[in-house]
Amino acid sequence: MFQSDLLAGKVIVITGGGTGLGKSMALRFAELGAKLVLTSRRQEVIDEAKAEIEAAGGEALAVTCDVRDFPQVEAMMEAAVEHFGRVDCLVNNAAGNFLCPSEKLSPNAFASVLGIVLQGSFHCALAFGHHVIARGGKESGGGNVISITTTYATHGSAYVLPSACAKSGVLTMTKSLAVEWAKYGIRVNAIAPGPFPTEGAWAKLMPPGMDELLSPDKIPARRFGEHHELANLAAYLLADGSAYLTGREITIDGGESLMAGEFNSLTLMDPAAVEQIMELMRAGGKK
Ligand code: COA
Repeated sequence: MFQSDLLAGKVIVITGGGTGLGKSMALRFAELGAKLVLTSRRQEVIDEAKAEIEAAGGEALAVTCDVRDFPQVEAMMEAAVEHFGRVDCLVNNAAGNFLCPSEKLSPNAFASVLGIVLQGSFHCALAFGHHVIARGGKESGGGNVISITTTYATHGSAYVLPSACAKSGVLTMTKSLAVEWAKYGIRVNAIAPGPFPTEGAWAKLMPPGMDELLSPDKIPARRFGEHHELANLAAYLLADGSAYLTGREITIDGGESLMAGEFNSLTLMDPAAVEQIMELMRAGGKK
C-alpha cells in the first residue's frame, strides 16, 4: 500500500507498544523504515516486540514506563532522545478499561482508568511537546501525535464510563493541542477504532458466552477490523504526505458507529425478506 521507505528515519514512541494494536503498529512502522521506542509497564512484552522488530532488520528501544507517572514519562522521553538523537512522533496507545455498572465503580477505579488514558496521554504529549519545542519546533521538522480513542468517545457508552470519559477528554486534547501547537509544526490527530480483536481488550470487554454482543453481523462491513488496516491508517497520519491534516479524529470501524440511522437495521436482515416486506408495503400503499 505504501512505498517501503514511507517512514524512513522517523523515531516513533508508542505507549503500550508491546501488545495488541500497539505492537501491530510498531511492527508496521518498522517495516516502513521507522525507528521505534516501545514503552509499557511490563518489560517482558516490549523486549519481545523489540526482538521481533530487530529480527526483521529494524531498530527499536524498549523502555519501561507507567504513563500515569510524569517523571517516568520524562525519563522515557530522555532515554529515547539519548538513544536515537531525537523523537519525531508519539502514539498514545496505552489504555485501561473494564466492564462495570457505573453505580458499582469505586472512586479509585474511575481514577485508575482516567490516570492511564487521559492523564497518561497528556503526560506523554507534554514530554513530547517539550522535546519538540526545545529542539526548535517547526524549523527542526516539528512533530506528530496520534492518540487512539474509540467511537464511544463521541457517543458515550454504558458500562465503560471511566473509559468513555477519559477517551472523550483525549479527543478534546487532540483538537485543542492541534490548534495551539501548530505554530511548533506539531500535528495532533486521533484514530477511533471500532472492534479490532486483541487478546487484552477481548479478555476485558467480551463477557464470556456473549460473543453476539460484539458480533460482526452488526457491522455493515460484516467483519471485524484487521490490525494491518489500523496500522496503515496510522502510518498515513504519521507520513509527511498528510502534513495538512491536523486536529481530526478518524473513525475506522467498517461503518459500525453509523448504525444508529433510523432504518439501517434493515440492512442486517435477509435482503430477500426485506425486499418482500417492501413489496408488500408498496402493494398496500396502492390500495
Ligand atoms: N470492575 C470494577 N472495579 C475494578 C475492576 C473491574 N473489573 N478492575 C479494577 N477495578 C478497580 C479496583 O478494585 C481498584 O479500585 P479500589 O482500590 O477502590 O478497589 C481500582 O480499579 C484500581 O485497580 P488496580 O488493579 O489496583 O489498578 P491497576 O492500576 O493495577 O489497574 C486497571 C488499572 C484497573 C485499568 C487494569 O484493568 C489495567 O491495568 N488495565 C490495563 C490493561 C487493559 O485494560 N487493557 C484493555 C485495554 S482496552
